[in-house]
Amino acid sequence: MNVLDFARRKQAGEKLSMVTCYDFWSARILNDTSVDTLLVGDSLAMVMHGHDSTVHATVDMMATHVAAVRRGAPDKFVVGDMPFLSVRRGLSEAMDAVAALMQAGSNCVKIEGAAGQLDLMAHIVESGVPVMGHLGLTPQSVEALGGHRVQGRNEGEAAEILTAAKALEDAGCFALVLECVPAALGAAVTEQLDIPTIGIGAGADCDGQVLVLQDMLGMDDAFKPRFLRHYADGKHLVGDAVNRYHEDVLSGVFPAPQETYA
Ligand code: KIV
Repeated sequence: MNVLDFARRKQAGEKLSMVTCYDFWSARILNDTSVDTLLVGDSLAMVMHGHDSTVHATVDMMATHVAAVRRGAPDKFVVGDMPFLSVRRGLSEAMDAVAALMQAGSNCVKIEGAAGQLDLMAHIVESGVPVMGHLGLTPQSVEALGGHRVQGRNEGEAAEILTAAKALEDAGCFALVLECVPAALGAAVTEQLDIPTIGIGAGADCDGQVLVLQDMLGMDDAFKPRFLRHYADGKHLVGDAVNRYHEDVLSGVFPAPQETYA
């Protein structure tokens, strides 16, 4: 998978799969799967660090996780998320952040939003760094959006998202994440762009789908938004294994002679 394959896959009508990945050991597992792309998303601030929003992700944090994922998944296309405000503090700081993620092992950067940053995004593309856009629910703006809510439900908002999507394509983005928008809007954006859309809660007509790994593995069985499918019962799988180990230690069954050095 390289950046050119995204457009090729859309032209061929082949869907794209992406999952988040934040650490070395899960990257090693995912490197041996057929998933197309790994996203080191700023959602790691919540999933890995326990914060209540992605606002807490920093460039250093992102670069550390990108480097760990690259070491674990040398064969995968890795997307590095530009964290909160990293593209809003001027060209020089933004380019330093891009450099940090690319030098840590990203194949591209993902940037939320469009307004006020199209020139910067075009500059990053012209500098030789592929840029993935991100519209709809943009979690870094959670305070301005009044929470994690579906976006583009009314005509005006939907038209704005469509216009922004075209502007991102014109700025040179090679793909676009669409998060939490009505399926009809996901389909309209997908139909009107030449670059692939990768949806999360944006309907089945997007060119690809992305989910947070821990969410799809059911690591938090209480977290089940409408767009999510649990592909495993990870919470109980892990919990049961650790409980069995605990019982074996207490009962003296572990370690057995074959697990002991003579
Ligand atoms: O940070 C992230 O995990 C994301 C996905 C939800 C698309 O941006």
